[in-house]
Amino acid sequence: MRVGVFDSGVGGLSVVKSLLEHKLFEEIIYFGDTARVPYGVKDPNTIIRYSLEALEFFKNFEIDLLITACNTVSAYALEEMREHSDCDVIGVVDPGVLALKNAVPSADANILILGTKATVKSGAYEKGLGELGYKNLSAIATSLLVPIVEEGLYEGDVLQSALHHYFGSLPKAPDAVILGCTHFPLVARAIGEYFEGQSTLIHSGEAIVEYLESHYDFTQRFEKTELKFFASENPEGLRRTAKEWLNLA
Ligand code: DGL
Repeated sequence: MRVGVFDSGVGGLSVVKSLLEHKLFEEIIYFGDTARVPYGVKDPNTIIRYSLEALEFFKNFEIDLLITACNTVSAYALEEMREHSDCDVIGVVDPGVLALKNAVPSADANILILGTKATVKSGAYEKGLGELGYKNLSAIATSLLVPIVEEGLYEGDVLQSALHHYFGSLPKAPDAVILGCTHFPLVARAIGEYFEGQSTLIHSGEAIVEYLESHYDFTQRFEKTELKFFASENPEGLRRTAKEWLNLA
């Protein structure tokens, strides 16, 4: 199977990492809209327009499936992308909601949703979780974590101050935290430690693998996946980050 992975920038590589670990695809074609990132501060019409333009890019390839690794795109543009696509388009919000339900089934659980400003504003995770009966939901737009990750500050004072800034006033550790942004899995360890290991963390990459495995037939696994990286600006930078994040030779 040949899959396309779309993200607003480099962050979607965290989803590619999970796809590679589970050897799901023969070929992955990644497109990061690095010229126009971040999407998380843009308005819905812009996010939809950019996403439809990315869809045009993928029409140059015969992909069997398109994954939108970006939570912001998943929250706003899925319906429109599906209308204009010949193949299935899967976002990360529904898989994240299902992964949460599998990991933390109690509807009384205290759930903290983290995302970009746009994702939090969309209420997409709250909608999905609310339909499953979850009621103790809160959300924080932890936007500073995006540039912190892009700077490679996966630990240390800057990250700790940002975590304290966002979580310092929470009355207690949540039962689960949805890492509703491509970048947050890279600081998952620090977030987990901040909550002293008391919170289950939901990672979009793992969630999408769980979702794919239960919705598609993956009897065949691929020891080697062909990877192609494209970006709307500085593709070399994207390939460098891919080497680092994905430990490529
Ligand atoms: N990829 C975005 C997301 O997962 C984060 C970066 C951005 O704002 O574009 O929401």
